[in-house]
Amino acid sequence: MINVLVTGGAGFIGSNFVRYALQAHPDWHITNLDKLTYAGRMETLNDVIGHARHTFVHGDIADATVAAPLVKASDLVVHFAAETHVDRSILEAGEFIKTDVIGTFVLLEAARHASHLRAFVQISTDEVYGSVPAGSSVETDELKPRNPYSASKAGADRLAYSYWATYQVPVMITRASNNYGPFQFPEKVIPLFISNAIDNIPVPLYGEGLNVRDWLHVMDHCRGVDAVIERGTPGEVYNVGGSNEVRNVDLTHTLLRLAQRPESLIQRVQDRPGHDMRYSLDTTKLRKLGWAPRVPFDEGLRDTVSWYHENEWWWRPIKENDPSFRAYYQAQYGSRT
Ligand code: NAD
Ligand code: TYD
Repeated sequence: MINVLVTGGAGFIGSNFVRYALQAHPDWHITNLDKLTYAGRMETLNDVIGHARHTFVHGDIADATVAAPLVKASDLVVHFAAETHVDRSILEAGEFIKTDVIGTFVLLEAARHASHLRAFVQISTDEVYGSVPAGSSVETDELKPRNPYSASKAGADRLAYSYWATYQVPVMITRASNNYGPFQFPEKVIPLFISNAIDNIPVPLYGEGLNVRDWLHVMDHCRGVDAVIERGTPGEVYNVGGSNEVRNVDLTHTLLRLAQRPESLIQRVQDRPGHDMRYSLDTTKLRKLGWAPRVPFDEGLRDTVSWYHENEWWWRPIKENDPSFRAYYQAQYGSRT
């Protein structure tokens, strides 16, 4: 058995990766370390929780007493755990520094002393490049993060690289574009807008809605991470992009059409401060490892809208009963809407 530590496996991408990997790799045993913050939910793991090759550990990556022995026992570490929402980082950045920077440091320190670690995959983001007015980012471009989330991720990204350069920890770094798909927490734009549309309440579009994001289906991201694990080179960075650059206003129109709701639900609200205008990735390097995105955007988006329609059991309790979500929604949108 290959012992794989997945961090943040109760979150959106981590849980999809756990599900994907249990199928794709019958010789992997996955230990899933997650703190179960507001964004990590046991319900998300309902279908894998009793699986013989999956062990869930409730704990904080920044707590070395829990995290270090797990890293040291691993052949592979796939590190997804993070605070991930830009708007929350603008409201309060402390947890982003603790988890994204210090938590990553704790894992890397343990990885230095791991005897049979074959790969440490640092899940980074295209947001570390900052706003890209023209062209597409290549892996060697300068990092120019502009909000506390992307700055924390850039810190973790370079810290991980430093553990390769200094200590030869077999770090590989992926920088993915905006993901979408099942089990995404309903604070991010796609699930927020779909679930608001289902409930016939306004969808709050920031500013003019001209900002561009490159949408990547979460399963294509999982396959990209797998390609890096299988065929990547330690010390290297790989962009993982969907090649679907869409303006927010166009995305919003498409989502409302798919949800069969009127455009009058669009509510233009005060823009996010420091809102990056555009992200764009050049994915040539990962494509050379034999990876390419497979899910066409129109199909993936249609299936995602259907998923949120069919899985209200998952998101409705978060939006309606979770006091922390309601407090966040009020703080973020109360004065905007
Ligand atoms: P998410 O917010 O849905 O999930 C994060 C998970 O990490 C949750 O389960 C949470 O409980 C867990 N977590 C948070 N702090 C922790 C801690 N201190 N210890 C242990 N677990 C902790 O995030 P996501 O969208 O699935 O993103 C996963 C990773 O992918 C992140 O590193 C993120 O930066 C990166 N990423 C995300 C996107 C995207 O579009 N969502 C794009 C590129 C990269
Ligand atoms: P988001 O899903 O928060 O991802 P990120 O900020 O990491 O790219 O936002 C995606 C885009 O949607 C971004 O340009 C901000 C915009 N947006 C809105 O217009 N309204 C919203 O309520 C949210 C959450 C995002």
